[in-house]
Amino acid sequence: MKELMESAGRLDAFLRRIRREIHSNPELSGEEKETAALIVRELEACGGFKIRRNVAGYGVIAELEGGKPGAVIALRADTDALPVAEETGLEFSSRNPGKMHACGHDLHTAMLLGAAKLLVERRPELKGTVRFLFQPAEEDPALGGSKAMIEAGALDGVSAIFGMHVWPEFPSGVFAIRPGEMMAAADHFAVVIKGKSAHGAQPHLGNDALLAGCQFVQAVQTVVSRNVDPFDAAVITVGEFSSGTTYNVLAEECRMEGTVRTYSPEVRDLVHERMKEVLAGICLALGCTGELINISSHPAVINDKTLTEHCLHAAEGIFGKENVLVPDRPTSISEDFSWYGRKVPSVFGFIGASKQGQPAWPLHSCHLSPDEDVMVKGAAMYAAFALGI
Ligand code: NI
Repeated sequence: MKELMESAGRLDAFLRRIRREIHSNPELSGEEKETAALIVRELEACGGFKIRRNVAGYGVIAELEGGKPGAVIALRADTDALPVAEETGLEFSSRNPGKMHACGHDLHTAMLLGAAKLLVERRPELKGTVRFLFQPAEEDPALGGSKAMIEAGALDGVSAIFGMHVWPEFPSGVFAIRPGEMMAAADHFAVVIKGKSAHGAQPHLGNDALLAGCQFVQAVQTVVSRNVDPFDAAVITVGEFSSGTTYNVLAEECRMEGTVRTYSPEVRDLVHERMKEVLAGICLALGCTGELINISSHPAVINDKTLTEHCLHAAEGIFGKENVLVPDRPTSISEDFSWYGRKVPSVFGFIGASKQGQPAWPLHSCHLSPDEDVMVKGAAMYAAFALGI
């Protein structure tokens, strides 16, 4: 491990240069063309990789065959930016108006390229094959970067996958991981209620979709408070609501959109089932019809227990025992990394990234500026996972 850390330390300037190059040219989900070109350029400069370009859009898959027989291990970084106008004031700020690497994917990509360098150097001792997944479109569930990568064969033959996210809630120098539930399942839903319009003075001649909608917004919270076990967690939020055309007409239609966050698949299924039943019951009572539409969803990130142990061991060597945390709770943020975990054993960790004495801006903030110092350890962590040390 000591020797790996020394090699990683020598990559410091490289990691900063690559991260800054990506940071200054952020590309949104599905548009990561120049980022992909940079990734291919750096992998080709390393030599030794079998490279697949334009996977699931602008994804890049690179394979490194080790000198010894063994399994196929996948390492994943995401490459896309967000539609956020940068306000960091950094000298390498985004030069693309309204676009910013506000989720740290620039660091993830740089760290995985760093790991590629570390592993090429160790090819003779490497067991099996390492598959590097540079995944596009993490931020846009409609494009579904991870799902599209899987459909393109990213996990074929893979026996384990590892990913990381920089995490401003933790200080720089910390690594956090927990077995089991790590990140939430996120479901984006829409509700459409159809009633029958009538004069506002003659409500008995119609069916009020607006009233049904209002009842749904309230009643749906009873799913959390009366159906979900108090020791399980679930969030239902209706964030958009529109209905009606003018003050004296009964609304013909009501539309809503919202999000559901859960952790266990059982709770997730229960919440979905009950939401449908609550909607159907209210619509029946008020003479309307209702439809619950699932617009997009990510399952929860569930860490494989054995792989988590493996990561904890590696992290202790890289970050120091005192800097490795096992959080007692998962986060309510979601990640499309979860789809990989549906197919193969997977594990996902957080790298603390807020610099001491500086404000810890949250992910997706226009001020986000993760500590670049963490990339050396991040690159070493990717490499250690692949090396099985
Ligand atoms: Ni992210």
